[in-house]
Amino acid sequence: MQKTVIVTGGAGFIGSNFVYYMLEKHPDYKIVCVDCLTYAGNLSTLKEALKNPNFRFEKLNICDREKIKSLFSEVKPDIVVNFAAESHVDRSIKNPEIFIDTNVKGTQSLMDVCRELNIPRFHQVSTDEVYGDLPLDRPDLFFTEETSIHASSPYSASKASADLLVLAYRRTFDFPATISRCSNNYGPYHFPEKLIPLMIINALNDKPLPVYGDGKNVRDWLYVEDHCKAIDLIIHDDRLGEVYNVGGHNEMSNLDIVKLIVKKLDKSEDLITFVEDRKGHDRRYAIDPTKIKEKLGWFPETKFADGIEKTINWYLNNKQWWEEIISGEYRNYYKKMHGEA
Ligand code: NAD
Ligand code: DAU
Repeated sequence: MQKTVIVTGGAGFIGSNFVYYMLEKHPDYKIVCVDCLTYAGNLSTLKEALKNPNFRFEKLNICDREKIKSLFSEVKPDIVVNFAAESHVDRSIKNPEIFIDTNVKGTQSLMDVCRELNIPRFHQVSTDEVYGDLPLDRPDLFFTEETSIHASSPYSASKASADLLVLAYRRTFDFPATISRCSNNYGPYHFPEKLIPLMIINALNDKPLPVYGDGKNVRDWLYVEDHCKAIDLIIHDDRLGEVYNVGGHNEMSNLDIVKLIVKKLDKSEDLITFVEDRKGHDRRYAIDPTKIKEKLGWFPETKFADGIEKTINWYLNNKQWWEEIISGEYRNYYKKMHGEA
């Protein structure tokens, strides 16, 4: 059956991968992307989607209730998937306010419009960071959907606040929502401020590779397409009010990731530079994906060895995409964060 899906934040990393995934998987669906194009949103990312008659782009801020209402009234979506967010922990440490505006108030505003217009389904894209972190010396521990919320950074606190609002709307208003909490994604169109693209791009440019603290922090990496598949399964399942953890059982330390990238690009490990640690730095994330596996049959299909190979090749083959980004406003951010641009 033909459906219309509104994807907020669809000009960013995961949202754009989701747009492409949906256009291919559901060629009869209409996909409407709502994105206000912050520093992290890039219209060139959607260049191919814009050629598809089933795709439409609207430059809009999710906090702009009136304009969102007018668009949603016109489009009458069957499903709204909310990816729009400020997503970078380091930026949230420097300037938390916008994280509350977009991630908390923006989510609330979207839900209010959906309630008013009786939109049948809302999906909130959340993160495993809402659970805080796990100790490095307890590899037997994982985040389950029952793990308590224990956010560490202004970013994760804002995402946790949004989750609590979604669950409160579900209980109080019978709001038709679901939530997914995913681990670290990697793949094409990942903004260069994040670990994997930053290391690939710096290594290619023979620049220092800034590893925070001792580099032993662990993340659970998932190829972005597997995240998109999980969301597609969730939004096509009738169960409402569910929270699903999404992760790949693929834990790696930051230092091991950086060393692997250096090796794959045939560069020297001398580029690796240990720098001051991130404030409040979470030690380890690890997802237990049993629920989504058992209820929806999801599993991570891309092995890390293949995913990282594809990702590195994508950055090698799409230099224009990231060269444009790193030569713009990003230079100021990089200088403030890491010193010389
Ligand atoms: P991103 O920063 O690459 O993209 C965010 C997008 O949202 C950008 O296109 C930006 O322009 C847009 N946006 C920001 N504020 C907006 C606003 N007020 N109105 C409209 N659009 C706005 O982020 P990402 O890494 O693709 O993450 C997408 C979502 O997935 C976020 O909600 C994030 O919390 C969540 N998430 C990310 C990861 C990860 O590893 N990157 C893992 C789990 C969950
Ligand atoms: O777990 C899901 C989360 O993953 C998402 O909710 C966030 O939106 C996403 O940004 C990501 O958060 P992290 O903080 O884990 O990702 P980041 O790429 O910023 O950092 C990954 C790890 O690498 C972290 O331990 C910090 C470290 N790091 C990062 C950068 C940018 C470095 O050591 N050096 C760096 O230069």
